Amino acid sequence: MKTEELKTKFEEVFGYQPDACFFSPGRINLIGEHTDYNGGHVFPAAISLGTYGAAKKRLDQKLRFYSGNFEKEGIIEVDLNHLVFDKKDSWTNYPKGVIKFLQEAGHQISSGMDVYVYGNIPNGSGLSSSASLELLIGIMLERLFELKLERLDLVKIGKKTENDFIGVNSGIMDQFAIGMGADQRAIYLDTNTLDYDLVPLELGSYVIVIMNTNKRRELADSKYNERRLECEKAVEELNCKLAIKSLGELDEASFDQYAYLIKDSNRLKRARHAVLENQRTLKARAALEKGDLDQFGRLMNASHVSLEHDYEVTGLELDTLVHTAWEQKGVLGARMTGAGFGGCAIAIVAKEAVEDFKEQLGKTYTEVVGYAPSFYLAEIASGAKRLE
Ligand code: GLA
Repeated sequence: MKTEELKTKFEEVFGYQPDACFFSPGRINLIGEHTDYNGGHVFPAAISLGTYGAAKKRLDQKLRFYSGNFEKEGIIEVDLNHLVFDKKDSWTNYPKGVIKFLQEAGHQISSGMDVYVYGNIPNGSGLSSSASLELLIGIMLERLFELKLERLDLVKIGKKTENDFIGVNSGIMDQFAIGMGADQRAIYLDTNTLDYDLVPLELGSYVIVIMNTNKRRELADSKYNERRLECEKAVEELNCKLAIKSLGELDEASFDQYAYLIKDSNRLKRARHAVLENQRTLKARAALEKGDLDQFGRLMNASHVSLEHDYEVTGLELDTLVHTAWEQKGVLGARMTGAGFGGCAIAIVAKEAVEDFKEQLGKTYTEVVGYAPSFYLAEIASGAKRLE
């Protein structure tokens, strides 16, 4: 969406021009899945699909929100001094959470504002439309109210909104990727220390294809919180001999040595995924830096197998896409991306093979699942920013 168009949309809804326009990306995760709340590493990248926003300060205390994606809902109005979660306020609960936690952190938000947003991340696709919206609102407030903020503060406020306002116990990966992303770079993040590196994503004659199951990952939240608890319980069991804070502290050898302490087969599988996935992420970074894309692809495949059988967060739709992708010519690797249970998968595909790839996957998926998937080429983009 062009900035001019965004301004026009804002004006159509609110009757005057906005003060400023913004864009906040979505994200894919290359590898390192369900490791962020396990003290491990993740390797996501911001993408050019995302959320656009325009805003203008008001003189009173009203917050008025309008989404070009939910036009039927019209303008949703909220009082700046009464920011509580309310189901009927729909998507505006995300902005409300961000504003509330900025206020609580001592930032002065002196008046209301009018906000127009429009996102082109397919809804419920697992490409982090919610974190994208959180960071969008964060940079809007930073700009309009001239707040003194580090980018990491906004990342943390986005996560806090998700955890303490919306009630999803997610890790920091999505907000971090969206806040810190850089053009043509993947973000190698240690979620334990928050140390990170921007690693050039040089794929040569290959591209990343995003495959959308078009199955919303609704669930997802209850199963997500359940996996998290299973991992925490496994850490407790391991700690009768060890003193670890999270599974990310273990490597293959130490896991083998102490795995017997985990008394339940499901918890053993969850823990094994968390430990080995973290190790795969370290190896994937090394492979990418060496330019060994074949190895990178193999690690992606192994990641999916582990998410399918040990972590059990895939399902028919994601498995059909990924398994079919593995069989296609010109594919180096494929795996689900994000929380799972629907949403999207990614594949590294030779440029010249992309058209056949899409055709074959579309055909097989539709036969098995009963409706078509969608495909997008991932363009790796920079983090949330103001538009000039
Ligand atoms: C969701 C969460 C992230 C992360 C992934 C799984 O996207 O928001 O914090 O846990 O799932 O890797």
